[in-house]
Amino acid sequence: MNVDVLIGLQWGDEGKGKIVDVLSSHYDVIARFQGGPNAGHTLEFNGTKHVLHTIPSGIFHSGKINIIGNGVVIDPVILNKEIKKLAERNIDVKKNLLISRKAHLILPTHRLLDAANEAAKGKAKIGSTLKGIGPAYTDKVSRIGIRVGDIEKANFKEIYTALKNTHLNIINNLQFDYSEYRLDSDLFDDYEKNWFEAIDVIKNIPFIDSEVFINNCRNDNKSILAEGAQGSMLDIDFGTYPFVTSSNTVCAGVCTGLGISPKTIGEVYGIFKAYCTRVGSGPFPTELFDEAGAILRKTGNEFGSTTGRPRRCGWLDIPALKYSVMLNGVSQLIMMKSDVLCDFDKIPVCTNYNYKGNLIDYIPFEINSNELSCVYKEIDGWKQSLEGINSYNNLPDNLKKYIDFIEKSVNVPVSFVSTGPDRTQTIKR
Ligand code: GDP
Ligand code: IMO
Ligand code: MG
Repeated sequence: MNVDVLIGLQWGDEGKGKIVDVLSSHYDVIARFQGGPNAGHTLEFNGTKHVLHTIPSGIFHSGKINIIGNGVVIDPVILNKEIKKLAERNIDVKKNLLISRKAHLILPTHRLLDAANEAAKGKAKIGSTLKGIGPAYTDKVSRIGIRVGDIEKANFKEIYTALKNTHLNIINNLQFDYSEYRLDSDLFDDYEKNWFEAIDVIKNIPFIDSEVFINNCRNDNKSILAEGAQGSMLDIDFGTYPFVTSSNTVCAGVCTGLGISPKTIGEVYGIFKAYCTRVGSGPFPTELFDEAGAILRKTGNEFGSTTGRPRRCGWLDIPALKYSVMLNGVSQLIMMKSDVLCDFDKIPVCTNYNYKGNLIDYIPFEINSNELSCVYKEIDGWKQSLEGINSYNNLPDNLKKYIDFIEKSVNVPVSFVSTGPDRTQTIKR
C-alpha cells in the first residue's frame, strides 16, 4: 500500500498531533520522519490533553505500530520523559513503538552548541527551541553524528566521549557569553547523567532497520501514515531561510526520513490553521500587532506546546499556502481552528503580496518588510459558535464561503474542518 503523509503547511503548530490521532484509526503504522523534540504535538480526548515531542501521535491507539524514523533526531532525556508520562496513563510503549537504528542522537553538548549559536547571532537569532536540533543535524551532515544503532556497540561510551570532546573544544574556546541561552546553565552534569539513564531506558524499545521494516509493511499491504513535524515554511530549503529548522519538513523529507520511494507516496494531507501563527523570529507577512492579533492569541490559546512562548498571530496567507501546496503536492486540505475566528465581523485574507512594486502570489527569495506588503480581501465572518456542530452541511454559510474561497484560491479540496481541540471536534466532509 501507499504511504499517506500529513504535512504542516504554515510555520508549524497547525494541529498535526490532533489530526494524526484522529486519522490513526485508519492506519496500521504511524511514522515520524523528521524533526525532533523541537516539535510539540498536542492531542486531546476524554478531557485530557497530551503533548508529544518525539513519539508519533498514533501511540494512543492500541494495536497500531508507531515508528521513530531515521530522519528524526532524538534526545533520549526528552524521549524518556515522554515514555514515563505515557506509562502514567497506562500506555506501555514497548508494545507499539519502534526506533530506527539510523536516527541520530542529540547529545547534551548539542544543546550547549545550540545556545552558543543563538548567542552568536545576537539580534538576528532564530528563536530556536534550543533543543539541540541544528547542531545534531549539522553533525549528521558533517558525518560525525552518533546514531541509535551505535548504542548497541560495546564501545558506545567511547564514541560518545569522542564527540562530546569535539564539542567541548569548540565550546570552551568561545569568546562570548552564551549563558543567557542555556536552558540548563550549571546543570550539565545532571543532564548528562539523565542522558545515560535515559539511554538505558530506551534500550528496552526495539531498535529496527526501519527502512526495511516499513517497505516490508507496504509489501504486506499495511497502511502507513507519515507524520510531519514543523511546517513547510520552516523547511531548510524552502522555508523563510535562515529562520527555519534544520530538516526537510516538506513531503520530500518522507522519502529520505523513512527510506521509501517517491512512487509510494499516496494521499498528501496538507494541514493549516484558518489563520497563521509563528513562534520564534523571521518573516511573517500577515502578522498582526493590534487588538485582532491579541484576540487570535487569546482565543486560540496560542502559546508554544514545547517552549510555552507566545505565538505571533496573523491572518491567513494564501500566497504562502499556495507555495506549500505546490511544494508538497497536497491532495487534500485540513483546516484547523475555525472556531477561533467566530467573533470577527470581517476576516481579512492575504491574496497577494505587493513585492518591489509587483503583485505576486508566491514566496520570493527573501521577505523583507520594507519591500513586501500584503493585499487583503475581506470575507464576512460567521459570528456564531461552532459548538455541537458535527456535519459539514450544518456549518454556518459564511464559514463555508470562507472554505470555498480558500479551495478556489489554492485549487485543492478541504476534506476536514476542525472546530475545537478535542478528537471529536473534527468534521469530515
Ligand atoms: P502541532 O504541533 O501541529 O501538533 O500543533 P500544536 O499541538 O503545537 O498546536 C495546536 C494547538 O491547537 C493545540 O493546543 C491543540 O490542542 C489546539 N487545537 C487543535 N485543533 C484545534 C481547533 O480546531 N480549535 C482549537 N481551538 N484548538 C485546536
Ligand atoms: P511542531 O512540530 C513551531 C521553530 C522555532 C524556531 C525555528 C528553529 O510542533 O509544529 P529549532 O528548534 O528547530 O532550531 O527552531 O523553528 N520551530 C517550530 N515552530 N512548531 C514547531 O514544531 C517548531 N519546531 C521548530 O520556534 O523559530
Ligand atoms: Mg506544535
